[in-house]
Amino acid sequence: MKEAVQSIATTVDFNRIRSRDFPILEREVNGKPLVYLDNAASSQMPRQVADRLDRYHRMEHANVHRGIHTLSQEATDAYEATREKVKTFINAGSTDEIIYTTGTTDSINLVANSFGRLKFGKDDEIILSQMEHHANIVPWQMIAEQTGAVIKVIPVTDRGDIDMQAYKELLSDKTKLVAVVHVSNALGTVNPVREITEMARQHGAAVLIDGAQAVPHQTVDVQEIDCDFYAFSAHKMCGPTGFGILYGKKEHLDAMPPYRGGGDMIDKVTFEKTTYNIAPFKFEAGTPPIAAGIGLGAAIDYLQEIGMDQIALREQQVVDYALSKIRDINGIRLFGEPEKRASAIAFVFDQIHAHDVGTILDKQGVAVRTGHHCAQPILERFGESATTRASFSFYNNEEDADRLVEGLNYVKEFFQTD
Ligand code: ALA
Repeated sequence: MKEAVQSIATTVDFNRIRSRDFPILEREVNGKPLVYLDNAASSQMPRQVADRLDRYHRMEHANVHRGIHTLSQEATDAYEATREKVKTFINAGSTDEIIYTTGTTDSINLVANSFGRLKFGKDDEIILSQMEHHANIVPWQMIAEQTGAVIKVIPVTDRGDIDMQAYKELLSDKTKLVAVVHVSNALGTVNPVREITEMARQHGAAVLIDGAQAVPHQTVDVQEIDCDFYAFSAHKMCGPTGFGILYGKKEHLDAMPPYRGGGDMIDKVTFEKTTYNIAPFKFEAGTPPIAAGIGLGAAIDYLQEIGMDQIALREQQVVDYALSKIRDINGIRLFGEPEKRASAIAFVFDQIHAHDVGTILDKQGVAVRTGHHCAQPILERFGESATTRASFSFYNNEEDADRLVEGLNYVKEFFQTD
């Protein structure tokens, strides 16, 4: 198995891709060559995507869905082409199931405000896990307050996995929605989302998956998972900021009321009564971030040309390499040892605050994220207030991992800990 994995992985020259497509990785930060390990916050944008954005801004800019003139039609075609690309990329059943949003947070708020308002009543239950990002907690708390629904939380095991037995016990006929993260941004855990969905189904509950940290790192097939909603962001997958996707099963989207009102989402407006456009357009009010939408299309083309399976294999190699090196450093504790991990490795020094670690690493040119990672409940679960997180992408290599480890050893020297 291992041999097969290696030989598949070597069919793509990732170091060549890195130097050809990511000029930012050639620059220096604080006088040192940059090692970018904050991909869970935002990935870097390859030349091909930046060029596509540039072309749109210089030569193709016009508003979409409105103009009869050629430029507007061209912009509309380019913008709408992304819907087809997303559909294929995540294997949705139809482009009608692909809603453009401004990011994962916006996607989840849409479901909370539209589906939640439609479906939740007093004492209905929403199940979340203890490892959720704030974006998959707060919108549910807000809608629970308005509808009288109640939030239940699946605990996380000492290793950093969802406690599936506890989940099973929480499910009941009162459960209206289960909202869980596919890959945790704080622990790196890859959750068994297909199994989670199947268990929810047995109680007639809908399932939303926060896929922000999964889509950039592995093949995602929403029909295989069979979830009702799947949310992700462009800027974590080589695309621009300000754009994201909500996949939703057509039967839900047809029944759900619009969440924001304005241009583009209507069928007919009078002061007496307004009728709405069909899904997905009824959820897309106002002039959208057109360039960003076109940029996501370019990012998908780019990732597909490399191949998501290749990306997953390469990242696994580098993450495993980094893990083995970090484990050897005395005085560091890994934050989470999940059964299955993607991209993110978080850790804590026994006697040094994460912000100090991050600051000293930055002086070495190594970019990581420190703090609570917008996931305070899971940090609290493990009795921490801050961790240091290195998160990898396909353009990172073993040398980056070595530079991180060198930097961490320097942190230890600096604070003279042993
Ligand atoms: N949610 C992003 C992160 O984990 C911003 O860094």
